[in-house]
Amino acid sequence: MAKSTHERTDVDRARPIDHQQGREFQAFGHLTHRPIALSESAAKQSVENLNQILADTMTLRDLYKKHHWQTAGPSFHQLHLLFDKHYEEQNELVDAIAERIQMLGGVSLAMAPDVAETTIIPRPPKGRELPPVQISRLLHAHEIVVRRPARWRGLLPRSEMTEPTISSCRTWCAPTRSRCGSFPSTSWTCRS
Ligand SMILES: [Fe+2]
Repeated sequence: MAKSTHERTDVDRARPIDHQQGREFQAFGHLTHRPIALSESAAKQSVENLNQILADTMTLRDLYKKHHWQTAGPSFHQLHLLFDKHYEEQNELVDAIAERIQMLGGVSLAMAPDVAETTIIPRPPKGRELPPVQISRLLHAHEIVVRRPARWRGLLPRSEMTEPTISSCRTWCAPTRSRCGSFPSTSWTCRS
């Protein structure tokens, strides 16, 4: 006996909604207004800067994981654990920065090809490098991230440095500086 239209509709409701397509409803680089007492230009500038920091922090995070997997030699165990710990901490920062961008009304970078296009941290080779080279790369990457807020402060007038902007600086600056201090013999590179 043929199923009624009513029965077919119920069965259709239980079917997963897959292969959906549609246009994006907020393009990258476009802001939606949020009632956070920040001018549109300040919010836009903050989103642009935060996306740069996000790309660099994601790259730094992935650099830690690469080194976690590829480190070798007598210090393998200590570095293997240390690099993974710092990976996790950078991962938390990535989430905080990305969500701050959304809070400002922007769209955060997310996917690896977009991050690779944006970051200014030099691309490492695919192969394995010696531990001193790994640490040197990480310190250089940290320094790139730490230096950015200093440049950023020069871009915005003090009156526009409202709490979302200032606390964003604090969010990544303090943990990033403390990471540099984890390599005592080379912590001099983490200048204030
Ligand atoms: Fe692991």
